[in-house]
Amino acid sequence: MPTLDQIVSLTKRRGFIFQGSEVYGGLRSVWDFGPLGIELKRRVKEMWWHHMIQEREDIEGIDSAILMHPSVWEASGHISGFTDPLVECKACHNRFREDQIEERNCPLSKSECDLTESKQFNLMFQTHMGPVKKEGSEIYLRPETAQGIFVNFENVMTSTRKKIPFGIGQIGKSFRNEITPGNFIFRTREFEQMEMEFFCEPDKADEWFEYWINFSKEWFINIGLSEDKLRKRAHTDDEKPHYAKAALDIEYNFPWGWGELETINNRSDHDLKSHSEKSGKDLSYFDESTKERYIPYVIEPAMGADRTVLAILCDAYREEEVDGDKRTVLRFKPQISPVQVAILPLSKNEKLAETSEEIYKSLKSEFRAQFDNTQSIGKRYRRQDEIGTPICLTIDFDTVETDNCVTLRHRDTMDQIRVKIDDIKNEISKMLKSF
Ligand code: GAP
Repeated sequence: MPTLDQIVSLTKRRGFIFQGSEVYGGLRSVWDFGPLGIELKRRVKEMWWHHMIQEREDIEGIDSAILMHPSVWEASGHISGFTDPLVECKACHNRFREDQIEERNCPLSKSECDLTESKQFNLMFQTHMGPVKKEGSEIYLRPETAQGIFVNFENVMTSTRKKIPFGIGQIGKSFRNEITPGNFIFRTREFEQMEMEFFCEPDKADEWFEYWINFSKEWFINIGLSEDKLRKRAHTDDEKPHYAKAALDIEYNFPWGWGELETINNRSDHDLKSHSEKSGKDLSYFDESTKERYIPYVIEPAMGADRTVLAILCDAYREEEVDGDKRTVLRFKPQISPVQVAILPLSKNEKLAETSEEIYKSLKSEFRAQFDNTQSIGKRYRRQDEIGTPICLTIDFDTVETDNCVTLRHRDTMDQIRVKIDDIKNEISKMLKSF
């Protein structure tokens, strides 16, 4: 298992993740995704969308606005209940979440019991809508994408003619003014969620709760996380969110210990009922077959895209010894590797240039390909290993002078095979499946 420092250092060095606003000294716990990081995160989101929405008949996707009517947050209970207990150290004036410190000792100054009484701190970011900052113009950055789904429940149901049970999913940014963000991209104030609200009959909710727990765990294994680093943990009554009847986390064993990747909530009829009451619009469902009307229950698998990226990076990271040298390698599954094949002409010699360019052009429409003709071939292999590229393709003088073949190198075994230029695409597809 790598240390978090090793992950932070590699991701910066290779262009996955940078400190936000770095030229100004950074903004605490804010991170920017670089060229490789955004590719990796996009793959995670695409795989979620594909598996959760595209492949299923019973789930639709939406993309709702980040800014929502302030009444949404009153109805959802976020204005009154989306709080963490905050304490302040009287000595150093740092602020902490009371439930994350031991025996009321200040974690920084280490002084004993020198903390203020705790008060409830609302995690929503507040701003004002319109040019004049006045009472009544307050608006919030959404702290979860879920509410955009609840307020569109009826729109989606009627426009797609869906019947219960069915779900609505979306991916998007959420914002929380966390008291103690940290652990790199694990807990930040701006992050991306992948959430799905599954509307079902109240007496089927427990069954669906189990179903979505298993579905989610399988999905994490499918994108490459090790099964023995995943566990399920049911929430105790006092840690359940204000909207949940039951909640369970899928956790990953990060370098600092177990941490939540996803929560699966049974939100009961909390949200649709509250929005019906507050808006005056009836959000109940009429079942034609039983002639019964009811407010559906909601089972919600809610995961973080950024946390998933961090878990993937930690899981894939290896340091190995090869012929007395150290190599660092990210053993990504090929489906999520930012680069799938690197095209590496052995030298910059112009004899190799035309063939190399042609091969690169023909591959990049089908694969995520990268061209690199700088430095020694050994250094380039190491670089590609470090960014998790499954296949390196080398063009040498034999390619153009004698055999019309290139070399394909497998990232994990480092085995090399010689293949005809005409067969490259087939061979690459075959090799990608072998990981
Ligand atoms: N709609 C339900 C909901 O938002 P949550 O457990 O608060 O539930 C769901 O959040 C997921 O969003 C978490 O499991 C986590 O992966 C991600 N998440 C929550 N807060 C986060 C933060 N401050 N930074 C990064 N990811 C976060």
